[in-house]
Amino acid sequence: MLMRKVTKVGAMQRLARQWRQDGLRIGFVPTMGFLHDGHLSLVRRARQIVGPKGMVVLSIYVNPMQFAPTEDLAAYPRDLARDTELCRKEAVDVLFLPMNEEMYPADHGREFSTAVVEEKISRCMEGASRPTHFRGVTTVVAKLFNMVLPDVAVFGAKDFQQGAVIQRMVRDLNFPLKVVVAPTLRESDGLAMSSRNKYLQGDERRQALVLSRCLRQTRERVRKEGVVAAARLRDAVAAMVSAEPAARLDYVEFFDPETLVAVEAVEPGTQMAMATFVGRTRLIDNIKL
Ligand code: PAF
Repeated sequence: MLMRKVTKVGAMQRLARQWRQDGLRIGFVPTMGFLHDGHLSLVRRARQIVGPKGMVVLSIYVNPMQFAPTEDLAAYPRDLARDTELCRKEAVDVLFLPMNEEMYPADHGREFSTAVVEEKISRCMEGASRPTHFRGVTTVVAKLFNMVLPDVAVFGAKDFQQGAVIQRMVRDLNFPLKVVVAPTLRESDGLAMSSRNKYLQGDERRQALVLSRCLRQTRERVRKEGVVAAARLRDAVAAMVSAEPAARLDYVEFFDPETLVAVEAVEPGTQMAMATFVGRTRLIDNIKL
């Protein structure tokens, strides 16, 4: 079947309602575009879940609401022609490209003034460093769910906290769908795939490997030593990051993967997440220890 491009919210909702009436399952992969193999693995996962007769929708929308004024909204990489081709090859059924005018109408009478906010697990880590970020993510994802009406939505595990916040939102607000968080895809040298990797200049690409190295070495240490104080692991990570001239640690946290509550005694099964600037690029990564 040919891939359809849909830009209008009403058209997307009509299609999704028709599919549901016809008994077809809908798998959804929300993205901000500039697709890489990590995104494509989410499409494959969605396809696997809904089956060959199901419908897979991938959305591309660079959501202004999840960027702070000082962040990279304007510079965020975009390549719609390439993304379209990749979606076609991956047999996506609908490429949904909603537009700002419909997502956040600003004209009188249709002004946008509602937000969806998760108030607990979105406050730490990414939420502490980027205080308005998750408000933008939950709001846009809730809107997209109401447009695509998916049975299942697939997110990448690189954004571990995002996956947890969306799962919580779906549970708290009774969205009738299942959230699947699929494993992070990595480059052959260990760097987690991310659209923002494109920003890395010259030697920054090599220095960015400090994130996956910190995660790996911490996991090895915890497996060997059993229980280790979070403070000691944090110091070791800070030292590794500061050995790279272009890198600056934003945070490293050790926490329970279900509640996201920080732990003082780290043991196998604890989740570790970190954010590091490499030059001007902010990268995140995480691992189950
Ligand atoms: O992970 C992303 O690309 C975005 O945060 C998402 C989920 C598409 C919402 O804009």
